[in-house]
Amino acid sequence: MRAAVESTVDPRLFHPIGALGMVSSVEERRRSTAVVLKVPSGGHPDEQALIGAVTEAVARAGGSPAEIHLAAMTSGEELELQARLHELGRTQRPAPAASPFGAGGQQAGPGTTRSGQHGAEGPAPRANPFAEKGSPTRVIAIGSGKGGVGKSSVTVNVAVSLARLGHSVALLDADVYGFSVPSMLGLAEAPSLIGDLLLPPVAWGVRCISMGFFVPEDQAVIWRGPMLHKALEQFLVDVHWGSPEFLLIDLPPGTGDVSLSIAQFVPSAELLVVTTPQPAAERVAQRAAVLAKQLRLPLRGVIENMSWFTGDDGKRYELFGSGGGQALASSLGVPLLAQIPLLAALREGGDSGKPIAAVDPDNEVSRAFAELAEKVVSLGPSRVYRSELSVR
Ligand SMILES: Nc1ncnc2c1ncn2[C@@H]1O[C@H](COP(=O)(O)OP(=O)(O)O)[C@@H](O)[C@H]1O
Ligand SMILES: [Mg+2]
Repeated sequence: MRAAVESTVDPRLFHPIGALGMVSSVEERRRSTAVVLKVPSGGHPDEQALIGAVTEAVARAGGSPAEIHLAAMTSGEELELQARLHELGRTQRPAPAASPFGAGGQQAGPGTTRSGQHGAEGPAPRANPFAEKGSPTRVIAIGSGKGGVGKSSVTVNVAVSLARLGHSVALLDADVYGFSVPSMLGLAEAPSLIGDLLLPPVAWGVRCISMGFFVPEDQAVIWRGPMLHKALEQFLVDVHWGSPEFLLIDLPPGTGDVSLSIAQFVPSAELLVVTTPQPAAERVAQRAAVLAKQLRLPLRGVIENMSWFTGDDGKRYELFGSGGGQALASSLGVPLLAQIPLLAALREGGDSGKPIAAVDPDNEVSRAFAELAEKVVSLGPSRVYRSELSVR
């Protein structure tokens, strides 16, 4: 029974609670299974989800109903937990000789992450896990030539669809001026902290970090370039992402500093472009091509959004024209991965924080997102490992 409890994956720390040192005792009694878990003294970010997961694990292992008590960790245990989280965030590198939480704040800068090498033997306490060669995460940046094409809606619903397929999925809202992902996912809570690690909140199976968590909604933010670069780095490095299979990144429209920073921090990222069905304006194609070229990321495909509206009569009405997605894909030499219909419920789902792919999966639009998610999976990781970087 203890093994069943220990192998329970913490719903917010993304690793088995045994490995995290959170299981204090498991005692099988006649009528109940008494479990004592140790959680950070500041509280666990989602006690109910933790209790639910352990209760289920005990039931699945055939134990009598779990009775779970949470006890606060001692400060020593808490430091131990932080150390383990840091260690687990590192996919490949052996533990540095220095204390894993020493030398706080010093991170691998773009100079080291860019080439995917971390030659420095120095204390570098945290590397960017997504830039490591052995990273288990496929990073997929989603961009567009212009705003309002439904990039965020697509990103959120693809993320949810990937999670529904059973994948572990993270979403970084890098649209730092026009962030909309938290509200689309219905996430209001700010990320909690364990030590200096940010824990991303989770909704609909998707863990998420956004500038929106740190900025009051009605406040305009003006970022100076270097600060923005640093903030984005922190979103990749100082967040306990828990080695997801997919990290989706909602880029701001166009080719700004943010997109360039992201491409620099995650040189192995792939790029998808969202467009609308307006007959291919030369400019749109050009912008998408420029985006891929400037970011030096492999462009994997095009997603056409708002493709048609299916009327009550079952007919498709092409409100915004047709052919734009295919024309763009052809001119860029990549596949058109999906055509997502227009649907009021999609917008409503975004407005209410209930993504349509999660709450109405049988819907025409949700099925299109599910198929898109399956295609993204079957495309497999890009084989181009930014070879052009070496000649830069
Ligand atoms: N396929 C669709 N059907 C209906 N409304 C959509 C669709 N795609 C996007 N929208 C709506 O269009 C608006 C812009 O979408 P959004 O995802 O915020 O675009 P972007 O991130 O590109 O600026 C939102 O109100 C969204 O709900
Ligand atoms: Mg957006």
